[in-house]
Amino acid sequence: MKGKKSNRMIAALMSASMGIAAIPAIAPAAVSAETSDAVNKVVFSTDFEDEDVSMFTNRGENDTTVLSASDEASVSGSTSMLASERSKDWNGPAFRLDDKLKPYTEYYISAKVKGRYYTNATFSFQYTNSDGETKYSNLVQNLSGSDWMSVENVKVSFTDEMTDVFVYFEGGQDDLFIDDFVVTEAAQVEIEQDIPGLKDVFANDFKVGTALTPSDLSSKPTMDIVEKHFSGSITAGNEMKPDAVLNQAACQTYFEETGDDTVPQISFSAAKPLLNYCQKNNIPVRVHTLVWHSQTPDWFFKEGYDPNGEWVSKEKMLKRMENYIKAYFETLTELYPDIDFYACDVVNEAWLEDGKPRQPGEQGSGGSAKSAWVQVFGDNSFIEPAFTFARKYAPEGCKLYYNDYNEYMDGKLNAIVDMAADLKEKGLIDGIGMQSHLDARQSLDAAFPSVSMYDKALDKYCELGLDIQVTELDATTPENPTEADFKVQADYYKGIWDAIYAHKDNISAVVVWGVTDDGSWRAKQYPLLFDADYKAKPAFYSIVEGREVPVPKVIYGDADCDGKIFLNDAVLIMQAIGNPDAYGVNGTEKTHITKQGKINGDVSNTGDDLTNADALAIQKYLLNLIDKLPE
Ligand code: XIL
Repeated sequence: MKGKKSNRMIAALMSASMGIAAIPAIAPAAVSAETSDAVNKVVFSTDFEDEDVSMFTNRGENDTTVLSASDEASVSGSTSMLASERSKDWNGPAFRLDDKLKPYTEYYISAKVKGRYYTNATFSFQYTNSDGETKYSNLVQNLSGSDWMSVENVKVSFTDEMTDVFVYFEGGQDDLFIDDFVVTEAAQVEIEQDIPGLKDVFANDFKVGTALTPSDLSSKPTMDIVEKHFSGSITAGNEMKPDAVLNQAACQTYFEETGDDTVPQISFSAAKPLLNYCQKNNIPVRVHTLVWHSQTPDWFFKEGYDPNGEWVSKEKMLKRMENYIKAYFETLTELYPDIDFYACDVVNEAWLEDGKPRQPGEQGSGGSAKSAWVQVFGDNSFIEPAFTFARKYAPEGCKLYYNDYNEYMDGKLNAIVDMAADLKEKGLIDGIGMQSHLDARQSLDAAFPSVSMYDKALDKYCELGLDIQVTELDATTPENPTEADFKVQADYYKGIWDAIYAHKDNISAVVVWGVTDDGSWRAKQYPLLFDADYKAKPAFYSIVEGREVPVPKVIYGDADCDGKIFLNDAVLIMQAIGNPDAYGVNGTEKTHITKQGKINGDVSNTGDDLTNADALAIQKYLLNLIDKLPE
């Protein structure tokens, strides 16, 4: 497993660097992946020797697959399960999870699969979301070969919002044999509580956040890290991009019914699990992203919303753009009136490193970087209307950003600065998003960009007088990193973070692009602050070392943290005591008490927990029966 090596290494590194700092660099507890593996528990296992296939089904009424025990092939013993009479690629043996296993719990699944003559299978996952839509994803593709193929310790988990959760084998229409199917419950991982929360260390400076995808939600340790370190800001990793939001079938239906092909139809169903989480936990959200050449379907730019249609005119595309942005914000704020959508990447990645617009074309065509926006507009003149419409329709308080990568390279940097100065003069832009996908490489000299190059870019953007957000920070090591590589990565993170900190007056948020290395889009190069075992890496310690956690200001009596002491503070305390599920620290009501509120509200002399005596003390204070709080 990926994390093991790095884990031992961090312990060594950390003990070497102990004691330099105001925040002590605490060595991760001696729990290694080896010891936690020991408590992994097999919860279901069959080698089909008992000929029982009843725990498996086919995939519903339209699936012709017949399941039986078979002695024609086997890995262990003499029997396997045969899935025969499969008449569609998607037909296959399925194993239901949510009727047997627990939500928010990590499981590993292993199994063997074989075709009759040749194996060509995919191992997949499906569930139904809270809107009743069924979602599918491939867990392991290309299980291809002439013999048994292995699925090994594939991580699966689900939330309590998901129903009809299955794993299944599919691919081709050949018979499939399955053997040695094992489900293991991963040991419960407690995250490190004895390290400072990143968001707390920088609480007086900028928001600290991360990017999430819905599958993160079902991993308890991942979400524990999010709560402790990154709950200042959440960005959806993919689910709020045009390809996730635009609904082609609905667009075409609307066009057929109304004759109007300028009103794109949208849905936030992919983002809902994430947004529900942010709403429940009161976490501000960065909207990412409206206008981008990538992860935007070509049909959006074509007549009839047909990928094979002609490109639409610029006039038509302007209407589509306006209506898209309008629908986007209207739908979001209608669904989630309580979420603070505090920032939006209106345009993403429109300039090349040489300061020129992208080449026109379909996004998939020849090379990666072509833009259908440039195709339709002829140049980058789509940027200003995008900001104009975003300004018109974004909710109050939602700041508008231009976001890009390689944002420190001269040509691109200058193009961004010129564009932003112009948009600023027109009152259309609030800030620059520096993606900050960086490469630590094998030494500080080889790192790209160098810390000083990044620092200079920060200077330049600051001179614009706009806000800056670091929107997608990660910094890769070489592949198969050694201990030394992680040390370089730590030094590099420290340099970059120090540069950010030096510009903190102009920076309102720093967002790290993912939580643990194995979940990163650049996983092979371990670019994040936590490892696959949920342990803080040297890079994490390098950022917090030497910094103090500011002590949050306690306003005694202010249980609802609105800055005032009033009767509703006493009421909230009583609600939190009487109905903790709704009003306690993790309560479902929007007005539930926060951790800080609990500290503020603890004003009687009866000890730590909130009691009616605290509510009473506030009332006495309000009636001038006592002259100060705490009592
Ligand atoms: C990445 C996601 O993390 C991946 O899961 C996806 O396959 C590709 O996009 N710049 C951006 C982000 O603005 O949206 C990209 O996110 C990373 C580069």
